[in-house]
Amino acid sequence: GLPEYVKIVEVGPRDGLQNEKVIVPTDIKIEFINQLSQTGLSVIEVTSFVSSKWVPQMADHTEVMKGIQQYPGVRYPVLTPNLQGFHRAVAAGATEISVFGAASESFSKKNINCSIEESMEKFEEVVKSARHLNIPARGYVSCALGCPYEGSITPQKVTEVSKRLYGMGCYEISLGDTIGVGTPGSMRRMLESVIKEIPPTALAVHCHDTYGQALANILTALQMGINVVDSAVSGLGGCPYAKGASGNVATEDLIYMLNGLGLNTDVNLHKVMEAGDFICKAVNKTTNSKVAQASYNA
Ligand code: HMG
Ligand code: MG
Repeated sequence: GLPEYVKIVEVGPRDGLQNEKVIVPTDIKIEFINQLSQTGLSVIEVTSFVSSKWVPQMADHTEVMKGIQQYPGVRYPVLTPNLQGFHRAVAAGATEISVFGAASESFSKKNINCSIEESMEKFEEVVKSARHLNIPARGYVSCALGCPYEGSITPQKVTEVSKRLYGMGCYEISLGDTIGVGTPGSMRRMLESVIKEIPPTALAVHCHDTYGQALANILTALQMGINVVDSAVSGLGGCPYAKGASGNVATEDLIYMLNGLGLNTDVNLHKVMEAGDFICKAVNKTTNSKVAQASYNA
């Protein structure tokens, strides 16, 4: 059966903006996050403590982290690929972090410039340091349903990397369909494998919507007991190191579906649409959310 409550992890300020070519002013990012904080969302991924040479859009990570208003009941995780990023994140006031690995060797090389094994060694250091400071760590597994460089990825490989991250102390593993090639069929096969090693309540799905399969894939995951879903307001998003990766599933569309299923999220759809409208105007884009499009045309 379906879970009663679904936790939405809003990744718009990070995944949504990291792929934007034009640098978004820091005060716009801060205002965007502050608006999202007032929608009922309980987790908002704020920024990445990565190299500004690799992802220029995230160069203002410290200013954004320090500039946002932290609302009670909302958590503000940030991405940290290594100890250097972790220390900077902590110095900026982060109290929750995510490490991000991949189930594809080629993607790992392109995205974080090291092999899967090397990345796991770095993440172990990060997660260990985080635990000393009582900072919860989340683990991402990219290319869980396919890789832009290698094509298909086996459920076994996804399971192996997920198990490694869970074993080192990540409280939640977010399975990323980085380039949105998955279908309910491949999602089911992948999850059947991962669930043998990790309880579904410690898993999340992170679906990009390149092939228009994201909501169907998410529904499949919900039916298999997963109750944490990543999404980005307005369907913003994409990874600069994954050619052809388009936006994340839109938070508005996800909420609309969950509301229709009678599942509780505690998130106000109308307020999320307002935050989406704000950021789309600021970056001069039209929304990728079907629900927002339909509502504005209504
Ligand atoms: P590297 O070049 O291998 O790092 O990059 P290095 O350790 O060899 O150091 C080289 C230089 O980088 C040094 O500076 C370091 O100080 C600096 P220099 O001496 O040349 O002036 N450096 C850093 N600077 C700032 N922050 C740091 C840091 N670490 C080293 N943390 C690195 C390795 C990981 C840093 C680089 O590859 C990188 O920044 N990659 C970013 C990739 C990224 O952000 N990708 C997008 C997020 S992942 C994603 O979108 C997928 C996801 O959404 C899930 C899904 O959809 O599947 C999560
Ligand atoms: Mg992503």
